[in-house]
Amino acid sequence: METKQELPPKPDHQQNLGLIKLIFLFLSTNLLTILLFSNFDPKLFLFRANSPLLLELKSTQSDLSLNQVQIKLLQSNLETTISLLNSHLNKSQKYNTTENNSFTWLESLKGELKLAIGPHKLPLGYSPNLRTDIWQSPIGLVCQLLSDDLIRYMTYEIGGKCPSDAALAQRLMLRGCEPLPRRRCHSKSPARYIDPTPLPESLWQIPPETNVVWDDYTCKNYSCLVHRGERPGSYDCKDCFNLDGRENTRWLHDDGGINFSIDQVLKLVSPGMIRIGLDIGGGTGSFAARMREQNITIVTTTMNFDGPFNSFIASRGLVPVYLTVGHRLPFFDSTLDLVHSMHVLSNWIPGPVLEFLLYDVYRVLRPGGLFWLDRFFCMKTQMNETYAPMVYKVGFNRLRWYEGRKMDRGERINEWYLSAVLQKPIN
Ligand SMILES: *[C@@H]1O[C@H](CO)[C@@H](O)[C@H](O)[C@H]1NC(C)=O
Ligand SMILES: *[C@@H]1O[C@H](CO)[C@@H](O)[C@H](O)[C@H]1NC(C)=O
Ligand SMILES: *[C@@H]1O[C@H](CO)[C@@H](O)[C@H](O)[C@H]1NC(C)=O
Ligand SMILES: *[C@@H]1O[C@H](CO)[C@@H](O)[C@H](O)[C@H]1NC(C)=O
Ligand SMILES: *[C@@H]1O[C@H](CO)[C@@H](O)[C@H](O)[C@H]1NC(C)=O
Ligand SMILES: *[C@@H]1O[C@H](CO)[C@@H](O)[C@H](O)[C@H]1NC(C)=O
Ligand SMILES: *[C@@H]1O[C@H](CO)[C@@H](O)[C@H](O)[C@H]1NC(C)=O
Repeated sequence: METKQELPPKPDHQQNLGLIKLIFLFLSTNLLTILLFSNFDPKLFLFRANSPLLLELKSTQSDLSLNQVQIKLLQSNLETTISLLNSHLNKSQKYNTTENNSFTWLESLKGELKLAIGPHKLPLGYSPNLRTDIWQSPIGLVCQLLSDDLIRYMTYEIGGKCPSDAALAQRLMLRGCEPLPRRRCHSKSPARYIDPTPLPESLWQIPPETNVVWDDYTCKNYSCLVHRGERPGSYDCKDCFNLDGRENTRWLHDDGGINFSIDQVLKLVSPGMIRIGLDIGGGTGSFAARMREQNITIVTTTMNFDGPFNSFIASRGLVPVYLTVGHRLPFFDSTLDLVHSMHVLSNWIPGPVLEFLLYDVYRVLRPGGLFWLDRFFCMKTQMNETYAPMVYKVGFNRLRWYEGRKMDRGERINEWYLSAVLQKPIN
């Protein structure tokens, strides 16, 4: 069978397609979807049938090579096409897209939202460093697409109590509305805040639970969170609130396999050369706690996925940063000695997003700085087809690299782990 194929155009080029082409694509993608997901043998169908659409398909050289990988690729391209089509059709139905640009959106803002974002006039010549006389506060561009929720978020009594809407704020951030605008209201304080535990005792102690606003979470106290790993159900960072369990042993022992120890990783560079760094998606902050014991300062990014991760890290005497994985790292180029991430950077992140992220990690690392990619997981075939080449392409040197089978979801699933210590080249 012929294997030559032409996938639907990439999203970037999609914008300019004429309506006829769009409709053709729409019909043909749906047809292909039917082909791909129905039970009959597509090979037979392609050769037997003589519908005009199929002939057209042939004429656009969309012959399918029907092995699994290509079908998957095709499927994801088709899904992109369909969703772009939907949004194209939705937009043209609702409003004139030329008119509805960010500029007119900013102009159309009202009330508190308008005041929060600006523009505001700066005193003339007052701030030469800014190179502008207009102050415009940052807000995620995607917020524009989430206007209803954004307006709800910005609706409150000025100077009063903020609504109990941490979940709404997080939802906005996770959908790309980041940063959020500032607000002029008081977020809820914990009811009976008591002094935090001093360092270093605070590092491995469950903090006072009166120091948390529990409204947004299923659990209403730390004992519930500590034991949630024992209950059925899937949670993010299932047992990482239990500081006496597995959390307490992580990064202490180098097993020559997927588990690297902090000791061994630090030995890869001269003593004292790792001083400051970042842990991306660092759960309850235990990596930063272990590093703090080495007198190394690590800030930890984390979201509050049904648990007060940020409050917990702060109570341990460590620095939480409330930022999604999608956000550009808020550090200047070539500044950090170390970036670490366990589990979070893995194959669930769309390929292009992950590649941009890896370049961003490279950017913030100083020359000679280390990127400890800790237990990245993907399917076995993806390792050499996609991810190892991606890491290689970004330009890190490999100091340690270990691949091994991931067994925790059973042997039948052919998942693979990668732990690596990568170094940003000096030159
Ligand atoms: C377009 O609108 C339809 C129906 O209103 C909806 O199901 C679909 O999700 C929308 N697509 C996008 C991309 O917004
Ligand atoms: C512009 O887009 C927003 C959605 O982001 C919509 O609510 C608004 O009505 C549109 N404005 C015009 C003039 O079409
Ligand atoms: C959309 O708006 C632009 C700018 O106002 C205008 O030039 C164009 O003709 C409009 N398009 C439609 C389809 O109304
Ligand atoms: C903790 O909260 C759970 C429900 O979230 C409750 O069942 C349990 O009794 C609470 N335990 C303590 C010690 O307050
Ligand atoms: C690595 O450490 C985890 C606990 O953090 C443990 O469950 C696992 O068995 C270890 N892997 C190996 C290969 O020793
Ligand atoms: C950390 O710093 C303290 C105070 O300077 C020092 O006493 C301690 O030995 C250091 N610990 C390590 C592991 O370097
Ligand atoms: C990837 O390729 C390397 C070098 O050929 C090989 O040693 C390794 O086993 C491969 N990994 C996987 C997961 O297939």
